[in-house]
Amino acid sequence: MIRGEKVILRALEDRDVEHLRIWRNHPDLMKYHFSDLPVSEAGQRRWYENYAGDSGAIVFIIENEDQTQVGYTILKNLDYKNRQAEVGLYLDPAQQGKGYGKDAFLSLMQFGFYELNLHRMFLKVFAFNERAIHMYEQLGFKKEGRMREAFFSQCQFHDIVIMSILESEFLE
Ligand SMILES: CC(C)(COP(=O)(O)OP(=O)(O)OC[C@H]1O[C@@H](n2cnc3c(N)ncnc32)[C@H](O)[C@@H]1OP(=O)(O)O)[C@@H](O)C(=O)NCCC(=O)NCCS
Repeated sequence: MIRGEKVILRALEDRDVEHLRIWRNHPDLMKYHFSDLPVSEAGQRRWYENYAGDSGAIVFIIENEDQTQVGYTILKNLDYKNRQAEVGLYLDPAQQGKGYGKDAFLSLMQFGFYELNLHRMFLKVFAFNERAIHMYEQLGFKKEGRMREAFFSQCQFHDIVIMSILESEFLE
């Protein structure tokens, strides 16, 4: 378990799988995922079974002070040679705007840099997702590129911004 100021990050359990599916399919969260397809119960379970045998990804459930599950955060595409990983974060819409996002991501960054000995963390975020970009910049991520019109949804193409932070920048 990883302890932040407002949240803890804990291991993904069997009982969380349905929660993950609900979050994945929630219209207010789905628009921030890089996939348009709703996830079925069977599909989510298959994902979980594959996840259990995948050493390239770590999912943490985020819990608040009341031990309520407020969202999840992920380290994936773990690359031990180049010491880097891709990261992501999704909060239940009812739990946004309470400072959980920043605390959870900071805890994930500490885990990545202090425990996994990563050198670089990066992420992809839609250019229209100003709230997330603002939070990532506050945490020290820098914009390093833009994939122009790389994703089509709701009748239009969207740009995707790539952001990253290096270990040295985090330690500053
Ligand atoms: C993005 C997300 C993780 C942020 O977590 P959160 O706990 O809700 O964050 P907060 O609402 O506390 O906001 C973080 C900062 O962004 C600011 N902010 C809020 N809405 C904003 C907006 N529309 N535009 C710019 N900044 C905004 C807040 O003021 C806060 O900054 P501050 O600390 O300087 O006041 C969360 O809202 C979420 O899960 N969103 C949906 C999924 C998503 O977008 N995930 C990222 C995919 S890459």
